[in-house]
Amino acid sequence: MPNTALITGASGGIGAEFARYHSSKKGDLIIVARRLDELNMLKRELELAHGVTVHVIAQDLGETDGADALITTVDALDVPVNILIKNAGFGGHGRHIDRKLADEHAMIDLNIKALVTLPNVYSSTGQ
Ligand SMILES: NC(=O)c1ccc[n+]([C@@H]2O[C@H](COP(=O)([O-])OP(=O)(O)OC[C@H]3O[C@@H](n4cnc5c(N)ncnc54)[C@H](OP(=O)(O)O)[C@@H]3O)[C@@H](O)[C@H]2O)c1
Repeated sequence: MPNTALITGASGGIGAEFARYHSSKKGDLIIVARRLDELNMLKRELELAHGVTVHVIAQDLGETDGADALITTVDALDVPVNILIKNAGFGGHGRHIDRKLADEHAMIDLNIKALVTLPNVYSSTGQ
């Protein structure tokens, strides 16, 4: 039975490790981030190592409508999504009053707005 995980922020760090773990259990993947080259390298690595299918989506989830665009792209793939890991994000450091407002907004857009826009669960039909 197919067991596909959609992982955001899978081009490196913890997200890439989630992808490695899931594929080691023979699960297929949809991996998402901005850096297409890193995603394609991970796709090659995991398909070769585990014989799974890895779909790559390059998407900036911090941009306006980025999360909606991802939902549309995933729907078009027509692959049932069984596991959703909303991992993409970053943490700003320092006092709010010392930080650039644009950086704070970018963090809110990615860590909060995109997070709540993506569905909490995908049904077995991929909706
Ligand atoms: N590591 C920690 O100690 C720690 C602690 C608390 C929370 N977290 C959270 O856990 C998650 C993973 O942490 P990590 O240490 O693995 O971070 P990381 O190494 O910086 O990786 C972040 C991932 O998110 C992706 N990403 C960043 N901005 C994006 C955007 N605008 N659109 C789409 N993808 C984006 C990055 O890929 P691209 O650059 O290719 O887009 C990368 O794949 C993050 O949400 C982080 O805030 C981590």
